Amino acid sequence: MSSSRFHSHAEQAQSVEAALAEAERRVARVSPAEWARKLGCPLDDLLHAAEALPGAQWALRFSDPQTFLLSLAEDAARSEFGRFLLCARGLNWRTTDLLFDPAYHAALRQQERDGSLGLFDRLAFFLFPLFLATQERARIHQRQIQPFVRDGTALASLPCGRMRDLLTLDYGTVRGGLRLTGIDKDPEVVDGVAQFARELFRDRPPPGALDIRTGDALVPGFTTPPCADAFDLLTSAGLNIYLNDDQSETFYRHVYAALKPGGAFVTGHIVPSEEYCWERVNRLHWRLQVAVMTVLVGALWEAYVKPADRVRAQLTAAGFRDVHTIPDSQHIFPTFVARKPA
Ligand SMILES: C[S@@+](CC[C@H](N)C(=O)[O-])C[C@H]1O[C@@H](n2cnc3c(N)ncnc32)[C@H](O)[C@@H]1O
Repeated sequence: MSSSRFHSHAEQAQSVEAALAEAERRVARVSPAEWARKLGCPLDDLLHAAEALPGAQWALRFSDPQTFLLSLAEDAARSEFGRFLLCARGLNWRTTDLLFDPAYHAALRQQERDGSLGLFDRLAFFLFPLFLATQERARIHQRQIQPFVRDGTALASLPCGRMRDLLTLDYGTVRGGLRLTGIDKDPEVVDGVAQFARELFRDRPPPGALDIRTGDALVPGFTTPPCADAFDLLTSAGLNIYLNDDQSETFYRHVYAALKPGGAFVTGHIVPSEEYCWERVNRLHWRLQVAVMTVLVGALWEAYVKPADRVRAQLTAAGFRDVHTIPDSQHIFPTFVARKPA
């Protein structure tokens, strides 16, 4: 199945029925020993622990591990976010933005209060450690970007999606000359950003000149005409986690060329579980996340998880200096800030 909803993962997108059948095949391929290795406990233990989750008795079936897992997949398919994940095995800019959208969160909290919040939405938005880390990562990125919001600076987001990362910064002190550039491979973001800017700024003008272009992170200069020595800061979220090592290195070299001397690059990466701060990770929620994301969804980003050291080495190989790392509280999705020498 292919539709505009699945634009950024069009090659992988499939129908819900096909995704559920694939999830069933994936479950059948994992032996009990493999489950114990993945989860750090027998699958039965996870099943029993999950029985106590609010809403689980209504949403899931607990007769045996296979039935339990398939009921988790069916429950995911009842959620807009879960359905997209199952079908596309990743997130596009619209579904990613739900993680960061305060109005969407407020609606979920209202559902929680009136007892209608689905189990999968509770897990994905409020409990899965990876998505909590993703939300925290976005706040960390904004704290790093905010000091670059000054008169006359040029800031870019690639891939920009809805461009919430730049558009929701504090522009209170800016008097003029600011340029905000958004670049994305999906042509639909041009309208998506314009609409979001209208919602945010209503009758006020945007805080700077907005330039939204289609472009490809893996092509030198990204756009036509190409970007070279153009930005004081470029931020990137949700792309390198889908890139292999060669593609990441290529992307970082292109970012380096697009920055002005002295410019900064702010990005993040998911690291392997050996690097997590386990005292701060809820094991039950993490185990459920493994069952859903690793096995049922078969999330595409899992193949590209890499140690923080390797991300730093790739940034350094691209020419960046002063690469520093800011962990989220669980150490799952650290932020990297790197400088192009002045
Ligand atoms: C997960 S979304 C993230 C969007 C945004 N940064 C955010 O955090 O909301 C990934 C985005 O990457 C874009 N994309 C995928 N491959 C790309 C490429 N080679 N160059 C530019 N954009 C790309 C997709 O169109 C999609 O909008």
